[in-house]
Amino acid sequence: MTDKKSSPHSSHALSHISTQLIHHSYTAPSEFEAPQPGIFKASTVFFPNVAAMRQREWKDKSAYTYGTHGTPSSFTLEERLCALEGGSHCVLAPSGLSALAVVSFTVLKSGDHVLLPDNAYGPNKVLAQGELKAFGISHTFYDAMNPADLAAKLQPNTQLVWLEAPGSLTMEFPDLIELLQICKQHSVTQP
Ligand SMILES: Cc1ncc(COP(=O)(O)O)c(C=O)c1O
Repeated sequence: MTDKKSSPHSSHALSHISTQLIHHSYTAPSEFEAPQPGIFKASTVFFPNVAAMRQREWKDKSAYTYGTHGTPSSFTLEERLCALEGGSHCVLAPSGLSALAVVSFTVLKSGDHVLLPDNAYGPNKVLAQGELKAFGISHTFYDAMNPADLAAKLQPNTQLVWLEAPGSLTMEFPDLIELLQICKQHSVTQP
């Protein structure tokens, strides 16, 4: 049986079936609520008109502008992770390496220096040796098991010190408190 109201053929008899499906007149009722938030996947999103599109600011997360800028699913996950971690903001990244890159490119600019432990996750070293270097950001590796080595390698332009616990592959566990204190004394960011 065909429901006349929701049939794509009844509302746009002259348009192509693909147009009818994209601009279908049926809208599901909005009151659906369940313990599990819905999953939204999208790239392009709809705006009521061009003026509304121009007014929207993707960075403040008050509305939707583009799937990879955020969907109800990603905003909800960010807020809940934030609550779990006791944080004030959360930004989702599609992989661990992209999260590392987001931190480096947020904190560092041309002329800055970054310190990485010598047992750092390999691709983070490659990022420093390749992309960061290409942007004029220098790096040095320090011995994560020797806090004095970190202190000795800090430079006036060191803006970021990576800490890893345990170290990648070799699994040593550094003295995080000691390393953090050295960073704090020099007012350096430590993710
Ligand atoms: C310490 C550390 N950082 C970053 C990553 C990267 O995570 P992804 O594989 O999600 O890019 C890994 C992966 O093993 C890791 O061990």
